Amino acid sequence: MANVGVIPSAYESRLSPVFGETHLGHPRQGKLGENDAVGWEVFSEELNHASVVDGVRLAKAKISRFPHKNMKHLAEAIGESKMPSKFIVSDGVFSMDGDIAPIPAMADLAREHNAMLMIDDAHGVGMLGANGRGSLEHHGVASTDVDLQMGTFTKAFGGVGGYVSGDQEVIDFLRISARTYIFSAPLPPAIAAGVTEAIDIAEREPWRREKALENAFYFRREVESRGYETLGSEAHIVPTLIGDELKAAEVTCLLRLRGIVAPHARYPAVALGQARIRFVMTCQHEREQIDFLLGCLAEMRETLNL
Ligand SMILES: Cc1ncc(COP(=O)(O)O)c(C=O)c1O
Repeated sequence: MANVGVIPSAYESRLSPVFGETHLGHPRQGKLGENDAVGWEVFSEELNHASVVDGVRLAKAKISRFPHKNMKHLAEAIGESKMPSKFIVSDGVFSMDGDIAPIPAMADLAREHNAMLMIDDAHGVGMLGANGRGSLEHHGVASTDVDLQMGTFTKAFGGVGGYVSGDQEVIDFLRISARTYIFSAPLPPAIAAGVTEAIDIAEREPWRREKALENAFYFRREVESRGYETLGSEAHIVPTLIGDELKAAEVTCLLRLRGIVAPHARYPAVALGQARIRFVMTCQHEREQIDFLLGCLAEMRETLNL
């Protein structure tokens, strides 16, 4: 809902007569009128989460998808764009592949072309960076180099609900323009309290993310050495490619019988023929459990001919 509300309004935040000309340092480009439907172009990374895709669809903009992490393609597309306003949007950590977006390159392009940049850091916040601040901290990118950082409390923080952060003026504008925010009930207080505590824990106890990432590093190395492809994973999400949808479902079922909950991701969440088991390592997994899982996977590779 955060993505669906924020993305269509983001462009208007630049135009809003409410806050004058200066926010984000970009000049105001006039009032939003009918012709502004063709006034901006959204450059959306091809592996963005479905909620980003839906937000982009609702934006009255020209939509250009760029291939996964292909900055050369993005630079060319944005350079050729005739649109007066440009908006780049990407996941920080890709939910189905576990790899991390090249945010520094996107921030450079945004600066060069006076584009807005939005990062959906659902999987980065609480997990990446020395202080758990997410993909930007992981890359050493200042938060001021990204216009909007969106995230969800459903991952590292174990709660529910979405948020977006950015310059005060943009956020103030979103409060009065993002439809899913205005026309839907807010987080219940109990959830807000739980999430606030979870954020404090993430700040206080960095060992949790360190151990989760160590576990992921170990599992990734070991599962690859057993012949599985992990699709460029770099973070705590470690997919193992199975390919065939039915076989992936079978692996999930067989793992379940051994006491391991490991859902598979298949079409339409990923491309057809690219079904995978989507493992997520946490700080609560112990080495023996991971070794047991590796043993199961090695065996299944033989028996199911994976
Ligand atoms: C990148 C990304 N953005 C947004 C979401 C939506 O999160 P939620 O489940 O909190 O609605 C997800 C969920 O999987 C995600 O992976």
